[in-house]
Amino acid sequence: MQNAGIAEMGLDWRYIAFETRPDDLAAAIEGARAMRYIGLNLTVPHKLLAVDLVDELDESARTWGAVNTVMFEGRDEAGEWRPLGQWPGGEIQEVRTRGFNTDADAITRSLREDLECEPKGASVLLLGAGGAGRVAALKLAAEGVARLWLVNRTESKAAQIADEIRAAHPTVEVNVGHPSPDMQVDLILNATSLGLKPTDPSPLDEAQFPIGNARAVYDMVYRPEKTALLQAAQSADCRIADGTGMLLWQGVKALEIWSGKTAPAETMRAALERHLRND
Ligand code: ATR
Repeated sequence: MQNAGIAEMGLDWRYIAFETRPDDLAAAIEGARAMRYIGLNLTVPHKLLAVDLVDELDESARTWGAVNTVMFEGRDEAGEWRPLGQWPGGEIQEVRTRGFNTDADAITRSLREDLECEPKGASVLLLGAGGAGRVAALKLAAEGVARLWLVNRTESKAAQIADEIRAAHPTVEVNVGHPSPDMQVDLILNATSLGLKPTDPSPLDEAQFPIGNARAVYDMVYRPEKTALLQAAQSADCRIADGTGMLLWQGVKALEIWSGKTAPAETMRAALERHLRND
C-alpha cells in the first residue's frame, strides 16, 4: 500500500517492515534517526511505549495517547525544523522525532465511507477495551455519539475507559455492559483481536445482545474471508464493513504527513486489497 503510493507520487523512498521487541524500540528509533529515515509507523505493542520516546508530540498523539506515526524532522542552518521527507536541501544540523496518531481519524473516516455511519448522535456497542478499543471509544465520544456501551472480557478496562469518557465528554451516555436485548443500536464495532484467527468465535455474545438489533457492524479485523462476526451480521441483514478502510486511511494520512502532499488513496487501496487477497 505505502510503496504503491510512494511510487505514484514519484518519491525515491521505500517502505520496509521490521520486527522489533518492545525493549529495543528506543534503540530502533535511534537507529532510524541516525540513518536519516523519513518516518516510521508503529504497531502493537509499540504505540503506547512510543509516546514517551519521541521528542515532540503532535496534538493527535497527545489527544489519543498513542503514537502510530513518527516523522523525522531536521534543523536547518537558520534553526528551522523541517520534515526530512520535505527537505529543501542544505545541511541537516540535527534530527528530532515527532509522534502522530493517524488511527483515530481513520476509524471515523472508514465508518462514514464504508458504512455511511455518522457517529454524531449515534448509539454504539463497542467490543474491546485494549489499545484500539480505547482510541475508538474516545474518538467516538469526541465525535458526539449519544450513547456508548463498552464490553470487554476484562471489565475493569472498559470501566476505566468509561470513567475517562465521563470526565472528558459528559454529554455522552456511557455504560459498561450490553444494551438491553430489546434495544436497537446504530453500530456494533469490534475492536477486540477476536477474528484474527480464522477459527476465532464472534466477539459478540448474542445471548446478551442479538446482532440483528444493530443497523451496521464494523469489524476492525481485516482478513480475506469474513470474520464470524461479519458473517453473522450479514445473515441478519446488517450493513457490514471490515477494517480495510481503517488500515488504508491511517496509512494515507501517514504518507501525507511525511511528504506534505496528497497521497493517492485509490492506488493505495487497490494495492492493499491485492495484498490482502494474496495473503
Ligand atoms: P489492540 O491494540 O489491537 O487493541 P490489545 O490492547 O492487546 O490490542 O487489546 C486486545 C483486545 O482484544 C482486548 O479488548 C482484549 O480483551 P482483554 O482486555 O480482556 O484482554 C480482547 N481480546 C483478546 N483476546 C480475547 C478473547 N479470546 N476473548 C475476548 N476478548 C479478547
